[in-house]
Amino acid sequence: MLDSSYFSLEGKKGLVIGIANEHSIAYGCARAFRTLGAELAITYLNEKARAFVEPAAQAVGATLFLRCDVMAPGELEAVFEAVREQWGRLDFVVHSIAFAPREDLQGRLVDSSADGFGLAVNLSAHSFLRMARLVEPLMTEGGSLFAMTFHGSEKVLPTYRSRIYHPDISWEQKS
Ligand SMILES: NC(=O)c1ccc[n+]([C@@H]2O[C@H](COP(=O)([O-])OP(=O)(O)OC[C@H]3O[C@@H](n4cnc5c(N)ncnc54)[C@H](O)[C@@H]3O)[C@@H](O)[C@H]2O)c1
Repeated sequence: MLDSSYFSLEGKKGLVIGIANEHSIAYGCARAFRTLGAELAITYLNEKARAFVEPAAQAVGATLFLRCDVMAPGELEAVFEAVREQWGRLDFVVHSIAFAPREDLQGRLVDSSADGFGLAVNLSAHSFLRMARLVEPLMTEGGSLFAMTFHGSEKVLPTYRSRIYHPDISWEQKS
């Protein structure tokens, strides 16, 4: 049970990218941050996704509700520009997104296509670096960037076929 008298995010401003619906990990994060007093900006992937994300954004009282497909030229930049205009600064960012083409999530990792693998890494991992670059000038008082991980990034899991889906593989195998 979260207790804002023990730890408070009152006055903090955060951007949460990765809510698809109320089952998304990012939604759990957003609810926790809101409970602790943070003010939130929430994004949705596209118009089709908007209807599912909007109730979640309303439930956490999001001040900003912005479209963001990290693969669409200019959309990520527009999100940080809107945050700059509205708040002038940002204290934390949650990156909770991943994608890989369905055909590359089946079979063996060594059989994945170069294009599919490249798309997965670009969308799921390099987008985190793009966010870090864009948020740098807004984190005038320091800040935190979060991404999601999974045990499958450290150990081979025989049934975990979707391993290229996870950005953590990119981070943790390079470090
Ligand atoms: N579910 C798990 O067991 C688990 C375990 C470890 C890590 N993760 C990681 O947690 C994160 C969230 O996963 P989840 O389980 O909440 O699933 P989810 O489907 O709810 O979230 C994935 C999100 O990625 C977003 N997304 C996909 N393509 C995008 C793009 N081009 N631009 C912007 N957003 C895009 C989707 O809109 C969605 O909101 C992912 O990074 C995933 O790899 C999940």
